[in-house]
Amino acid sequence: MQIREADAQDLPFLELILLEAYNWSEERFTLDWIRSDERARRYLEGFPADGDLGLVALIDSAPVAAVWGRALPAERAGYGFVAPDIPELTLGVLPAARGRGVGSRLLAAVIDLAEQRRLPGLSLSVEDGNAARRLYENAGFEVVGRSGGSDTMLLQTDAGVRP
Ligand SMILES: CC(C)(COP(=O)(O)OP(=O)(O)OC[C@H]1O[C@@H](n2cnc3c(N)ncnc32)[C@H](O)[C@@H]1OP(=O)(O)O)[C@@H](O)C(=O)NCCC(=O)NCCS
Repeated sequence: MQIREADAQDLPFLELILLEAYNWSEERFTLDWIRSDERARRYLEGFPADGDLGLVALIDSAPVAAVWGRALPAERAGYGFVAPDIPELTLGVLPAARGRGVGSRLLAAVIDLAEQRRLPGLSLSVEDGNAARRLYENAGFEVVGRSGGSDTMLLQTDAGVRP
């Protein structure tokens, strides 16, 4: 598996991965819905902007997974907003590549990247019942809030922990 940084050319793939994240339990949403929903579009429109970061995982040169974080202002935030300088992550692996450690390696890599960039932390939103929660807990994310049927989780980097 290879990992490289994501850029604007990856947006069609990130859109597919966003759909996987929305549909983690069952096929509830379509690509057309993702494209038309103002809140869903916040995760994609204008990526990568200042403060964003993202990675794509490839197997045999084909993208199989992505993780990216958006540093959005409070008034245009996603579901897992904590602060405007803390990017909110979306993570997803194509179904055929799951269960082989791709997701956990990608998450570890984006945490490394956030630390290299001296970002104060990373946040995310995870719906009740999603087994991805264990992945996040293992990486050090902690629950800091609640929104609807989802927990907001935060990982503070060394740069974010004040002495
Ligand atoms: C969640 C997801 C990214 C995990 O990626 P992955 O490559 O399959 O994960 P890994 O192989 O690295 O597994 C890591 C851990 O994930 C957990 N896990 C993730 N999905 C799981 C599932 N459906 N069932 C059971 N465990 C799961 C396991 O605890 C596993 O830990 P273990 O190795 O101790 O068993 C992937 O399942 C996915 O894309 N799901 C749909 C999108 C989604 O839910 N995204 C997160 C939105 S918050």
